[in-house]
Amino acid sequence: MFDRIAGSYDSLNAVISGFQEPRWRRGLVAACGLRPGMAALDVATGTGAVARDLARRVGATGRVVGVDISPGMLERARAHAGGPVQLTFCVGDAMALPVTDASFDAATIAFGMRNLPDYRRGFAEMTRAVRPGGIVACLEIARPASAVGRLGRVWFEAIVPRIGRLAGQGDAYRYLVASVRAYPSPNRIVAIMERAGLVEVTWTPMTFGMVTLHVGRRP
Ligand SMILES: C[S@@+](CC[C@H](N)C(=O)[O-])C[C@H]1O[C@@H](n2cnc3c(N)ncnc32)[C@H](O)[C@@H]1O
Repeated sequence: MFDRIAGSYDSLNAVISGFQEPRWRRGLVAACGLRPGMAALDVATGTGAVARDLARRVGATGRVVGVDISPGMLERARAHAGGPVQLTFCVGDAMALPVTDASFDAATIAFGMRNLPDYRRGFAEMTRAVRPGGIVACLEIARPASAVGRLGRVWFEAIVPRIGRLAGQGDAYRYLVASVRAYPSPNRIVAIMERAGLVEVTWTPMTFGMVTLHVGRRP
């Protein structure tokens, strides 16, 4: 499915997020506390937007790897990449990441966790990838309970599937809504991250709770 939508993914994403996604991604990257020369892993990297932000943080002496199961999405990521930093992409499954244990300072995932068949294993793999003390951070669409947030839900559950249908991607955007509905509450995600081996797990709502940012540390 992601191979098929890769061509229109970035532009549709910008519209359905109300052009908020760059801000959300910047929050995710800032939470990792990266400095020049460090190494970061972006799981389910898609067209590589987070990976490029991470690369700017770690600079030319740093290293960023983006992993995704869809070669079509990675083709886009490679086309957008550039510059002097070490930014590479590879095909791989978040359920069994193709990376060495403890080889990164931070691991991120943006709008990818809800697509995985086993969330605990997804977090456990990211935890395995970071060094002791390293950060695991997850940005995901949520189902807000606040009044303003509920308006956002109307947009997301009623309008977004129509936009998807108009763009010829009706099934993908119906899947998007269904996968958000099936995703656990923020507190359940905290518990899942702790079961995956992370400590000091916190979560922050963004844009009236339409998106949540979870951050944990490998002990
Ligand atoms: C909604 S996109 C998010 C892409 C990107 N992180 C972003 O912020 O735009 C979800 C991505 O998860 C990837 N994905 C789904 N299942 C995966 C898996 N098991 N392992 C790795 N990537 C996966 C898809 O190929 C897709 O690129």
